[in-house]
Amino acid sequence: MAEGLHNSDVKNPVLRWVDQRLPIISMVQREYGTFPTPRNFNYFWNFGALAMITLAIMIATGITLSMQYAANTGLAFDSVERIMRDVNYGWLLRYAHANGASMFFIVVYIHIWRNLFYGSYKTPRELLFMIGVVIFILMMATAFMGYVLPWGQMSFWGATVITNLFSAFPVVGQHIVTWLWGGFSVDNPTLNRFFSLHYLLPFVIAGVVFLHIAALHIVGSNNPLGIEPKGPKDTVPFHPYYTLKDSVGIVVYFLVFALLVFFAPNMLGHPDNYIPANPLVTPAHIVPEWYFLPFYAVLRAVPNKLGGVVLMGGALVILFALPWLDSSPVRSMRFRPIAKWVFLLWTVNFFILGWVGGKPAEQPYILIAQICTAYYFAYFLVLLPLLAKFERPLPLPESIAQAVLGRRGGGPLPAGATAKPMEKA
Ligand code: HEM
Repeated sequence: MAEGLHNSDVKNPVLRWVDQRLPIISMVQREYGTFPTPRNFNYFWNFGALAMITLAIMIATGITLSMQYAANTGLAFDSVERIMRDVNYGWLLRYAHANGASMFFIVVYIHIWRNLFYGSYKTPRELLFMIGVVIFILMMATAFMGYVLPWGQMSFWGATVITNLFSAFPVVGQHIVTWLWGGFSVDNPTLNRFFSLHYLLPFVIAGVVFLHIAALHIVGSNNPLGIEPKGPKDTVPFHPYYTLKDSVGIVVYFLVFALLVFFAPNMLGHPDNYIPANPLVTPAHIVPEWYFLPFYAVLRAVPNKLGGVVLMGGALVILFALPWLDSSPVRSMRFRPIAKWVFLLWTVNFFILGWVGGKPAEQPYILIAQICTAYYFAYFLVLLPLLAKFERPLPLPESIAQAVLGRRGGGPLPAGATAKPMEKA
């Protein structure tokens, strides 16, 4: 082998020639073929892969839509209608893109929930989790700007309400708003820059996802037991075990996606966005897309505008501190008898926040939003730190293999014996 060439074990001579000079095939084999992965993943571990697929679908449909879309206030609404009616399969592209955004948030919300339940944010995965939070914030910014593009009533008024939030900051607030708008109201320059950024950000997200995966492959995956693999008995190669398990998830994912696109494409949207934007007519209730509703409820729970903005931002930023707020050495909630229920209540609380976020800003919804906001923050700032100190966790299994295969520690089972799951103990 010539000096400087990568020591490739790829069989095909042409591919080996490439791999010796640019070892991407070896890298894929190492990271996705033989990569040792805990043997006890459940289906919650499908959602990272599903998020990647959704990102790819969003970029592909988005690029194609932009070939027919016109980012100009006089043309935008009609150009979208033309895509829906006159462009071949334009309706499919647009419905896949709009519902793809919802699928993205469904998948990523479940992905985050899994991380919270199984303590995947704890050491050594803190940075991996924080990179995830950055992705989530970027996703929110991208979705917000995308919703403005069809230039319907909700596009216009949603953009007006949300950008105006920055005016709550003292002294510089109004300057920031004017700078964001590129003028003195949401208008053509705003639409133009939102289109430009909406096109750019998914690629930034793709870059940050690359860092996310790179960090994941340094520390390895967590698993439902929350204990680290101790030896080869605790892991299986990623391929074929998890490529196959992910495929099952992918089939179910596309079923749900297809149901939305073909049978209920407008279910998650707002009918007012089929009315062209009109700066002179304010809709009766301005509501954001469903995936923003819990945070919108936090915003409106505070009577003071600046307080609401700070709290809403805080609801996201607090996630960066989570690895340090929860100092319990036990990761998985399966072994935390009290924290488990406190967290499940937090989950219900989050759904209630989403529900009140879509209601008018009046009583009793405001009061409910205030109580739920208090619990949202209390979970992170009070309950998790206290539980870390005072809760008595259940005994952890010795190893993943022992928990999955029985007390024999993963050794071969005697003929006729069945594997005894110990995880529920
Ligand atoms: C575009 C969005 C995202 C993509 C494509 C993505 C991708 C992935 C993939 C492929 C994995 C490994 C498979 C799995 O554990 O499911 C993973 C793991 C992980 N992700 Fe994400 N992710 C995204 C967003 C997020 C967000 C928003 C967070 C947190 C706020 C997050 C935190 C984590 C953590 C902590 C792990 C390790 C989990 C474990 O090992 O148990 N990710 N991600």
